[in-house]
Amino acid sequence: MDSFDFAGTVAVITGGGSGIGRAAALSFAGRGARVVVSDLVGRRAEAVAAEVRSAGGQAAGIAVDVTRGEDFAALRDTALREFGRVDVVMNNAGVLAMGAPESLPDEAWEKVLDVNLLSIARSNRVFLPLLLKQGSGHVVNTASASGLLAYGFDRLPYVASKHAVVGMSEALALYLGPRGIGVTCVCPSGVMTNISEQITVYGQASSSPRAPAHGIVSAEKVGELTAEAVTQRRFLVLTVPAIQAELVERAADLDAYLNARIAEQDTRIVEQTPPAFHRGAHHPEDAA
Ligand SMILES: NC(=O)c1ccc[n+]([C@@H]2O[C@H](COP(=O)([O-])OP(=O)(O)OC[C@H]3O[C@@H](n4cnc5c(N)ncnc54)[C@H](O)[C@@H]3O)[C@@H](O)[C@H]2O)c1
Repeated sequence: MDSFDFAGTVAVITGGGSGIGRAAALSFAGRGARVVVSDLVGRRAEAVAAEVRSAGGQAAGIAVDVTRGEDFAALRDTALREFGRVDVVMNNAGVLAMGAPESLPDEAWEKVLDVNLLSIARSNRVFLPLLLKQGSGHVVNTASASGLLAYGFDRLPYVASKHAVVGMSEALALYLGPRGIGVTCVCPSGVMTNISEQITVYGQASSSPRAPAHGIVSAEKVGELTAEAVTQRRFLVLTVPAIQAELVERAADLDAYLNARIAEQDTRIVEQTPPAFHRGAHHPEDAA
């Protein structure tokens, strides 16, 4: 497949009012795409669209709840009305529920799977017919390093949803690649965003997961890595190279890999606290 040139294209992004989605909107627009920024919180979407415009780009903002199929239809209609086409679809909205595995109720599973996974099924139904008809375009799904490696045992629905997003993205690449449409799956490790706002914690306490200390990158870096991967038609975006080595180790001997990780776990009971995602990237409207 030829490389992808953002110039003159139209990109739609979910969860684009903050963090990785906001950064991707700015990176895509910086390469010449017109962007439709959507978010559950409409004023955040509008604020990011205004940021793009003040940097010289073209953008529209719209409130979209990815748990509602009709909102995806409204997102498509806005893109077609404002800019006449859709080339890039970035399914990025995500939420996190935390707690010991035995304390997570159905509602935690349902919410996380609805926002993180079923949203992409809704997006596929609305946007793939457009891309398939034109025989070009690119789909970007934001998964997580937690979709490749399962160290976060205090967030089972999140890990399950993100593994499903990786698998779904691979299968989509098989379907869409021969039809001229690329797929990129973004699998960041820690990113400085506002995701801690989207965390629901269940239960009083759980064991503390011992995850590798990979460090936290900026959302802007993830936006740039994503735009570069789309341009080069690459599938996988990692923010930490060490993940690649860990995937090789895991593939070579899953039992040995898992036993080594089990031996590292700290089984003391500690107070449940959200992970160390610092409130980082400001919400654009906070700056106003
Ligand atoms: N921050 C990290 O360390 C990290 C790591 C790996 C993967 N991710 C993934 O990156 C994606 C973006 O997260 P972020 O870190 O930028 O977080 P963020 O909270 O800064 O941004 C997420 C945005 O999604 C929106 N959102 C939440 N529920 C929504 C819904 N139902 N419909 C539409 N929008 C909704 C929020 O309003 C918010 O603006 C998520 O899928 C997340 O799982 C984040």
